[in-house]
Amino acid sequence: MDKLVIQGGVPLNGEIRISGAKNAALPILCAGLLAEQPLRLSAVPHLRDVTTMLELLGHMGMRIAVDERMNVELDAGDIHTPEAPYAMVKTMRASILVLGPLLTRFGHARVSLPGGCAIGSRPVDLHIKGLQAMGAEIHIEHGYIEARADRLKGARIFTDLVTVTGTENLMMAAALADGTTVLENAAREPEVIDLAECLIKMGARIEGAGSDVITIHGVERLYGTEHRVVCDRIEAGTYLVATAMTGGKVRLANARADLLEAVIEKLREAGADVEHDADSIGIQRHGTLKSVNVRTAPHPAFPTDMQAQFMALNTVADGIARVTETIFENRFMHVQEMRRLGADIEVDGHTAIVRGAPHLDGATVMATDLRASASLVLAGLVARGDTMIERIYHIDRGYERIEEKLSALGARIKRVH
Ligand code: EPU
Repeated sequence: MDKLVIQGGVPLNGEIRISGAKNAALPILCAGLLAEQPLRLSAVPHLRDVTTMLELLGHMGMRIAVDERMNVELDAGDIHTPEAPYAMVKTMRASILVLGPLLTRFGHARVSLPGGCAIGSRPVDLHIKGLQAMGAEIHIEHGYIEARADRLKGARIFTDLVTVTGTENLMMAAALADGTTVLENAAREPEVIDLAECLIKMGARIEGAGSDVITIHGVERLYGTEHRVVCDRIEAGTYLVATAMTGGKVRLANARADLLEAVIEKLREAGADVEHDADSIGIQRHGTLKSVNVRTAPHPAFPTDMQAQFMALNTVADGIARVTETIFENRFMHVQEMRRLGADIEVDGHTAIVRGAPHLDGATVMATDLRASASLVLAGLVARGDTMIERIYHIDRGYERIEEKLSALGARIKRVH
């Protein structure tokens, strides 16, 4: 199994390009199931989760062409197996995103119920309730969600929690439903907006994406189109934190500051200068790194997918920080590993108290989930000596060529087999 070895202590300098967003690409690939002609996508990131989703769609009968630049063409003209088997869903929970499109387009879907997960229990009850409100008949049989509907009907759906993939699933289902669906307490994440923009180009009638009320007027059919996936705000945020921690000066091309306001505000509070134009962000740190409190919440508040990286930042910052996780109940798996590097972190329920130390010391640590792994890379970049990170297949799920991008910025990092 691959490992990353990092020799810490080098400030990052230079420019890299941010990839397309994993969490926009995954639902948009599923939107390919809705179109009657090919859907052509560009800026699809080359990630393990994307490969898994393409395999899943291929299993259903989707014709898929991918070129060397990750332009992807999807043709749903020949779907024969509207099913997501357990073997695939257990490796990637985002597989649930095929449920809405399959049901609304083909009248039937069989999708394995996702099991437990490293960061929390993550049920999909709100996806199911929403589809039932639209008239779907849903049973859980032998660990599978069996869903049927002649044609879904528009409905008013209130989800009592903000759910990102839930909003996306219901928006896709409603796009081909009979009548108008109103999603209340909808997720406002930029990836929801990107999916809505792609669906609109396909002929969907959607209003309000980006607000907490999304209205979808169902149409009879959706068509092929071309769409470029929005840039990955979490990948960008991760490199911004890396630069703030190591010092140096970095510019990120294909990065949008307007999608990262809460993160950039925290970076400034930590002592970094951040400037940007429409599609790039520059960061430089002057002076001491200062501790910052963070509390995760749905967009536009501080994202849970950046919590672990800010935990890493706080381990070497001046002061004491409170890091509070409100979205997932078990997203502190990185704490134990960071302690192995010498970090001073105490966990009290959903809050971690992080006392900044003058330095961390390299050690062997283990990646436990995607963002936890990223935080260990960041800690390794500032630790004295060598840090070896095991189980980095988690990182490959969501960060495209992380060691190449960090090397391009001067980091001493290599992948070993
Ligand atoms: N929830 C329920 N019932 C549901 C759906 C969600 O109780 O039916 C709960 C979850 O257990 C959680 C909260 O609602 O406590 C929010 O979960 P959400 O549904 O928003 O998460 P998700 O859609 O499964 C997406 C991202 C995650 C990201 C979260 C939160 C994708 C493919 N995944 O997950 O990304 O952390 O939103 O922003 O978009 C990552 O990229 O590392 C990652 C985990």
